[in-house]
Amino acid sequence: MWALNQWYVAAFSNEVHNKLLARKFLGKPVVLYRCMDDRVVALEDRCAHRFMPLSFGHVENDNVTCGYHGMSFDSSGKCVRIPAQENIPSAACVRSFPVHEKDKLVWIWMGDAEKADIALVPDMGRLNAPEWIAAQGYHHLKADYRLLNDNLLDLSHVAFVHSRTIGNAAVANSPITVKQTADTVSVHRDVVGALAPPFFEYLGKFTKPIHRWHTVNFHAPSICVIEVGCESLEGVDGEVRIEGCVMHLATPETEDTTHYFWAFIRHFRQHDSALTEYIRQAITATHGEDKVVLELQHTALTPAQRDNPVGFAIAVDSGPIRARRIVERLISEEKRTKAEQMSTEA
Ligand code: FES
Ligand SMILES: [Fe+2]
Repeated sequence: MWALNQWYVAAFSNEVHNKLLARKFLGKPVVLYRCMDDRVVALEDRCAHRFMPLSFGHVENDNVTCGYHGMSFDSSGKCVRIPAQENIPSAACVRSFPVHEKDKLVWIWMGDAEKADIALVPDMGRLNAPEWIAAQGYHHLKADYRLLNDNLLDLSHVAFVHSRTIGNAAVANSPITVKQTADTVSVHRDVVGALAPPFFEYLGKFTKPIHRWHTVNFHAPSICVIEVGCESLEGVDGEVRIEGCVMHLATPETEDTTHYFWAFIRHFRQHDSALTEYIRQAITATHGEDKVVLELQHTALTPAQRDNPVGFAIAVDSGPIRARRIVERLISEEKRTKAEQMSTEA
């Protein structure tokens, strides 16, 4: 249900230090840490000896020492010390995963290491650009990551789920346009002539009806970058025009759970730290509302419905359905390549 040969967000850079951080990605336990030269390392969180989670141990001189019988593994996963024993068996190593740190994010590749091309790391450069300021956060979802894709590609739900922050009825009542390429889907909506919902009213100080827009850009398999903006229709109201971008970076944890990293970035009133904190709290509350919905929806689905969780499709399902088809194609291409490899080797 997931594509292995992809870069996924493992952590925000500021979460990874010179101590062990345990996380599961795509069903595999991983331990992350930062070396003395600032490099980030990801090893399977499972000691090669008796399978104790390595995260129970500690880091010393860039090596991880298991907290059960004291074997040490270097940053490549190779065992470099066994207490009271000279001989180190060749099987004494743990898997290491390719990682790449970019744009204040740590990306991990859970698939075939030789295919991990850093040129394929998605560009989130605005997270690291001085003219943009970020409010960011993390939610742990007890839901299939594909339900989060569905949610973000159909923002009609903000009218019903987020009326306290980013939504009002005018959003659901405005039509969408959908575009698609091989690996991307884009859903755009203009909402013209309605009052701003509470969050945007606060951000832009709008008092009269506005033009509001959002464009959801989906990058398979689990990233949605939403460009948002509002402008005064009369040209003199409030801040006149505000623009921002919300990065939704999902990483499957298991078949039933998802890491949901997000950042709201803006390039207006960048030095207003009270505004940054307001945004952080408002978006945390908003995504908390999505978490409730997605977890209830996940629980309601039968196993047979998980790959296609829709009773009947309406216009707003166009984006989510196209995105699901792209993800399905990536997964089936991987399976086909793997099967071909295995038949060649046999
Ligand atoms: S389980 Fe790790 S050293 Fe024995
Ligand atoms: Fe939402």
